[in-house]
Amino acid sequence: MKKQQAAITGIEGYVPDDVLTNHDLAKIVDTNDEWITTRTGIKERRILKKGKASSDMGAAAAKKLLEKKQMQASEIDMIICATATPDMIFPSTACIIADKIGAQNAFAYDLMAACSGFLYGLATAAKFIETNTYKKILVIGTDKMSSIVNYKDRATCIIFGDGAGAVLLEPNTEGLGIQDSILKSDGSGRSFLHMKAGGSKHPASFETVKNNEHSVYQDGKTVFKYAVKNMADVSAEIMKKNNLFSDDIQWLVPHQANKRIIDATARRMGIGDEKVMLNIHKYGNTTNGTIPLCLWDWESELKKGDNLILAAFGGGFTWGSIYLKWAYDSNK
Ligand code: UT7
Repeated sequence: MKKQQAAITGIEGYVPDDVLTNHDLAKIVDTNDEWITTRTGIKERRILKKGKASSDMGAAAAKKLLEKKQMQASEIDMIICATATPDMIFPSTACIIADKIGAQNAFAYDLMAACSGFLYGLATAAKFIETNTYKKILVIGTDKMSSIVNYKDRATCIIFGDGAGAVLLEPNTEGLGIQDSILKSDGSGRSFLHMKAGGSKHPASFETVKNNEHSVYQDGKTVFKYAVKNMADVSAEIMKKNNLFSDDIQWLVPHQANKRIIDATARRMGIGDEKVMLNIHKYGNTTNGTIPLCLWDWESELKKGDNLILAAFGGGFTWGSIYLKWAYDSNK
């Protein structure tokens, strides 16, 4: 029997309708469009309405994907939801999504690796397919970052947005799909990017709310330094490991945290801007949503056999890279 690999066979995304532009933010905090654009590449981001949660976006993307694939939700074996903004600490957002889409035969769980979560999820799901354990797996990246952003903190509120993407993974015996992954983490970086309260160490209290400890804290300069180095290093490493040269790669699919980090990664890989998926200008950093939202935006341009390098860096620290061969020509 030929080796069984895990291939993405469908992709969908969901972004909320409400747009928050740089000009809107300049009315709330001391910032301006020029600073945000030149430092990050972001022009606007989407914001999910109050009362809606990460599961609503994840379920919306998953439902569209099932419709597109003309599949029943009952066919799904497993759902991994990568999120840093679960609806609640428990039960998992994956269980809530499974219920919302009617995937009653799936077992579902969340995976927490901050901005690298979607890559961790893909690599994990791939193992269940490669070992012939399951045949249809949804990997969903969804984050309502606006629910944990302090809109008085100009260093963080300009970066994040809300959004979700979902992919279907199925077995492939033509040599297509996920070829390799390199995933890394270093918990000593946790103090530079975290949300201090709301967990078991600092449960919610009057003090934690008063001190704004339920929102993202980021030491931007330090995170930037580590992100630039590690995302570029791991992307170069996966190329070397798989004997890939820049001409062999059709697309770099980077986590969208800062255009300058993406540019540095592409330069290190020897890849021109025309091969880099970039949608940070319209969605900002949607954490687990960035990579599937890129694939969704570019789906119509992807061709069967294209070599893609996916790369991310995020809180933890966590980072990694996945090399995959795209498995289908889209008729989107
Ligand atoms: O996705 C998870 C991983 N996260 C990342 O990869 C993000 C990594 N970090 C970054 O992308 C960047 O560090 C930021 C975009 C967050 C910040 O850009 P920076 O070029 O590192 O700015 P900085 O923090 O060094 O601040 C430079 C200056 C400071 O003023 P002074 O001290 O030089 O007078 C800040 O106070 O810019 C000021 N500043 C702002 N000015 C206008 C900081 N935020 C703003 C703002 N508008 N929103």
